[in-house]
Amino acid sequence: MAWCLNQHMLSSVIIAVSVLLCLLSNHSSIAEKLPRFEHHLKPQQQSLNFLVVGDWGRKGNYNQSLVAHQMGIVGKNLNIEFVVSTGDNFYDDGLKGVDDPAFYESFVDIYTAPSLQQIWYNVLGNHDYRGDVEAQLSPILRQKDNRWVCLRSFILDTDNVEFFFVDTTPFVEEYFTDPGKHTYDWKGVLPLESYRAELLKEVDSALVQSTAKWKIVVAHHPIKSAGPHGNTQELEEQLLPILKSNNVDAYINGHDHCLEHIIDKESGIHFFTSGGGSKTWGGDIKPWDPKELKLYHDGQGFVSMQISKTNASIVFYDVFGKVLHTWSMSKKLKEAA
Ligand SMILES: *[C@@H]1O[C@H](CO)[C@@H](O)[C@H](O)[C@H]1NC(C)=O
Ligand SMILES: *[C@@H]1O[C@H](CO)[C@@H](O)[C@H](O)[C@H]1NC(C)=O
Repeated sequence: MAWCLNQHMLSSVIIAVSVLLCLLSNHSSIAEKLPRFEHHLKPQQQSLNFLVVGDWGRKGNYNQSLVAHQMGIVGKNLNIEFVVSTGDNFYDDGLKGVDDPAFYESFVDIYTAPSLQQIWYNVLGNHDYRGDVEAQLSPILRQKDNRWVCLRSFILDTDNVEFFFVDTTPFVEEYFTDPGKHTYDWKGVLPLESYRAELLKEVDSALVQSTAKWKIVVAHHPIKSAGPHGNTQELEEQLLPILKSNNVDAYINGHDHCLEHIIDKESGIHFFTSGGGSKTWGGDIKPWDPKELKLYHDGQGFVSMQISKTNASIVFYDVFGKVLHTWSMSKKLKEAA
């Protein structure tokens, strides 16, 4: 099932999908078939151009506003189609409700550049789960700002790339066994075992059925990272095999507050961390095979991607908009290899 969307139609469809999900979630805790969105390129556009930012919502503090400013400049130069957010959208504890002013203070009033007035496809991070999750998923937010699209897990089909957004917070055991002083809003994901199993099954079957040239999985938690959080063992065990068996090109995540590019020697999968939307760690990097680790930037910034049918170009920018690292990939070369 697919809906064909343009900017004008999207609003009502998103609301319909969200209402549907809301109804389903009240009747069943088991993840239903993943909602699917379609996004077609602007006329004359050969490549799908978009930005990726993560771990950002701090009311402009910790240089969130500076990163936003540079995103606006790069977004204009690339004439971007949309923004992908890798989660931790609102610090410290998600949104308190649909009327939480943080939605304006950390999103609407921060990403004001004209080029950023495109759809934002968001997943949830662990900090978002510390607030009212249903509020962040609510279509009411879209009425406040029509850029906002946030679902737990979904598929985004574009002309050149198919994206699989996966809700990874419920996979991390530590949040359940050792939550410390934090409380998480697990409504809608219990019982856990079936939520996880269903979601993995849905992601796997969507990947198996995909005929897209480029397949990219987006989530909050890293599978491979040299940052302080590092690899998420649960995902290495449960999600990575699915990425490998389906020839996924790239996995994009946040959670570690840095910019990072790892190429897995064994599978060739690219692991891109874009978690530099605001506060960063400051010097804490684990040793990693330099043949795999192409970039580790312990500071703020974001990533742009331009993906045509055959070529992908990925660029990492720091808080000044300075290019830190670029990477190009070509489909034909990869297939011939
Ligand atoms: C913000 O960025 C500036 C560089 O423009 C840097 O010197 C400063 O440490 C950053 N502040 C924070 C809180 O990260
Ligand atoms: C795509 O990449 C190939 C191989 O690197 C290169 O020869 C070609 O010019 C590129 N095409 C475009 C449109 O950038």
